[in-house]
Amino acid sequence: MGGDGFFTRIFSSLKNGGGRWWASFFTHTNEDMLILKTYNMDREPNAHRDDLCLKFFSALHPLKAKFISLLNIDLGRTVPGGVNYLDARAQCIDEVVLAAIGGSHPPSPRIQQIVVLGSGFCTVSIRHATPGVRFFEVDLPSVINRKKKLLRKLKVTRDQSEERMAQHELNLIPLVLGRKKTSDLVDALVGTGFDPEVPSLFIVEGLLYYLPAQGVEELLRTIGARLMAPQSLLVLDFLHLDAVREGTRRDNDQEQAVDAAITERYGTNYTRFKKLLAGKGEPLLSGIPADEDACRAFFRRFDLELTELMGGDDLARRFLPHLVPCLEGQGCNMLPWFSLAKCGRISE
Ligand SMILES: C[S@@+](CC[C@H](N)C(=O)[O-])C[C@H]1O[C@@H](n2cnc3c(N)ncnc32)[C@H](O)[C@@H]1O
Repeated sequence: MGGDGFFTRIFSSLKNGGGRWWASFFTHTNEDMLILKTYNMDREPNAHRDDLCLKFFSALHPLKAKFISLLNIDLGRTVPGGVNYLDARAQCIDEVVLAAIGGSHPPSPRIQQIVVLGSGFCTVSIRHATPGVRFFEVDLPSVINRKKKLLRKLKVTRDQSEERMAQHELNLIPLVLGRKKTSDLVDALVGTGFDPEVPSLFIVEGLLYYLPAQGVEELLRTIGARLMAPQSLLVLDFLHLDAVREGTRRDNDQEQAVDAAITERYGTNYTRFKKLLAGKGEPLLSGIPADEDACRAFFRRFDLELTELMGGDDLARRFLPHLVPCLEGQGCNMLPWFSLAKCGRISE
């Protein structure tokens, strides 16, 4: 059954605008991630595999999980390309984590600490638990509380092999990022045992665009200048700056002209996507230049060296190669307004 028609009929009477039904069906994006990242699992080749995601989602929303599977709801149609983008992004992050803890990531130190910022219900810290690697997750206090309860409820650590979990250290840190003083994040991490002198991997997945531009700068400055020991890594995804209407315009006409240019660049799906997130109370607030030179210059301001930049199509080619024919044709099923960047510390 196609999800759009069915749900639009039901929910559009409850919510204003067909595009919003999804927002009313799920609550927060961090929960949506659990099901969207694994939506391709039994449907497409090369899919990201993460059974824990589904276990988390079922524990958080047992009825919704049943509803989705019984009705075989086509979430892939909600924002075309969204599922594929999240699938490829999750695979990319997994690859970075595996290389980092295996010591095969150039320049090959063994990463000893992994910090996940805006971690939500992300499963990386559990799935990649490795003796000698300490994990830190930071999110809003309400989310961290829910995650703690979820992990306790699922006895998640005991489901893993005893040997691997014996030295698994996961610190869940409640903090509002990007809105407080730099020292808050440093203090919070150091206060739970993080050592800024040790090579670390920072994962910022699905977070930056929800912070105001100033908050993004503050966060990157803190990571680059105060938290990244030599040979540390940062992986993040970002919204393209030219998809954001920044600052205040003089009049309505100017605002409409900017919006029209954005729609022309990224299509009406982007407008729909933006509204969907705003409807959830998680509006897109900021972006980073996607052009490689400008992107490099942007990160340099925070002592960060861009080492790899991948747009949606690059991610598809690398992780979802079955999409290549559609990349080369028209209308590929991949979000074009996000990119993923890997950075090291500039002083290296
Ligand atoms: C789209 S979810 C991504 C979750 C996770 N990284 C993933 O990929 O599954 C965004 C997460 O960022 C968190 N977040 C948003 N603004 C934040 C802030 N100012 N400080 C801390 N966390 C924040 C939200 O609570 C949410 O868990």
